[in-house]
Amino acid sequence: MPGGVNSPVRSFNAVGGTPVFISRAQGSRVWDVDGNAYIDYMASWGPLILGHADPEVVDAVRKAVARGTSYGAPCEAEVELATIVTEAFPSVDVVRMTSSGTEATMSAVRLARACTDRDLIVKFEGCYHGHADYLLVKAGSGATTFGQPSSPGVPKVFADCTLLAKYNDLGSVEKLFDELGEKIACVILEPVAGNMGVVAPTDGFLRGLRDITRSSGALLVFDEVITGFRLSPGGAQELYGVAPDITCLGKIIGGGLPVGAYGASREIMSMVAPAGPMYQAGTLSGNPLAMAAGIATLRKLHNPGSYEKLEDLASQLVDGLRDIIKSAGVSATVNRVGSMFTLFFTDRSVVDYDAALNSDTNLFSRFFGRLLENGIMFPPSQFESVFVSLSHTESEISSTLDVMKKALE
Ligand SMILES: Cc1ncc(COP(=O)(O)O)c(C=O)c1O
Repeated sequence: MPGGVNSPVRSFNAVGGTPVFISRAQGSRVWDVDGNAYIDYMASWGPLILGHADPEVVDAVRKAVARGTSYGAPCEAEVELATIVTEAFPSVDVVRMTSSGTEATMSAVRLARACTDRDLIVKFEGCYHGHADYLLVKAGSGATTFGQPSSPGVPKVFADCTLLAKYNDLGSVEKLFDELGEKIACVILEPVAGNMGVVAPTDGFLRGLRDITRSSGALLVFDEVITGFRLSPGGAQELYGVAPDITCLGKIIGGGLPVGAYGASREIMSMVAPAGPMYQAGTLSGNPLAMAAGIATLRKLHNPGSYEKLEDLASQLVDGLRDIIKSAGVSATVNRVGSMFTLFFTDRSVVDYDAALNSDTNLFSRFFGRLLENGIMFPPSQFESVFVSLSHTESEISSTLDVMKKALE
């Protein structure tokens, strides 16, 4: 495997050291092949909002697998998951399942282009939308981690179709629309950025994007692959009260199995094959195991008090961390939205990609290493979100804070 891994950030290249190989996981804990236990805040990069191997999810998958792993034909579970999604997201009447978040965003952009008959798209520096060619331009996540704002192999003509704007800077978007508005098919963004580390939208930013796109005939695409069902049942669009034209989902809706989805109004989705002419397909899309894991996850998440509990645990952890930063006199700042947060080693407030890049990644690496040695697993990069799950306990939050305190001091 290139670099020994199947997805770059897993390699620990960004933080140094040897990647931990996992042998099993349960609830908030993962165990490596040497038998060491860790409290996990990676949550497989976001899907595991219930924690690992939740008994109800495991049971649902076990029952589903006995009925066959894939049919290549419609099944009831697809309809059930589609119904849960459309009920949770008022902006989504019709949804198409894919097998990954990358496919969801790639298809959403194709859909926006098909609907508008325009080629250009606007994306934001530091936002990551998977690894499709024209989205791999100044992307966050692993692309930032490795200092490759874009990748070789992306034809210049593809990258030329992607216009870059600055997150939380409406002026940078207005400028692009003033010059090229009639050619812009869509604006795509993470409504709460997670892939330059967590960065919340400033007041009026999402609303401003809604107004600009609407008045110029472009579509607004929210990539809620991380935020969908994490920040609220209806994602960031519910939290901030701004509805996009197209929504991309993934991660949580597959309960830890490979999944993605994109959806929109009935009118927009009528463009997608076979209802319409825009082609998009997938051998394993709507896979019955992934549907079963997703349905079980979302049902459990729907229990009263879930989001309050996530908010409680995450605020305990982040408030405690902020106190430690203050008393230890460390130059650091924490951005948190709900159960996702990032500790940036910078004294500037982090509202965009440039500010995120100002962080001291060497300090982050040392901090990461200290946590790992003491049984706490954070994502191995400064430019990622830490995730709190429903399986974390108050006592784990408190022991995590003890380890953080020693590390920061
Ligand atoms: C916001 C966002 N969009 C899209 C993707 C791509 O999803 P996948 O890795 O399932 O292809 C990711 C992955 O981390 C993501 O964070």
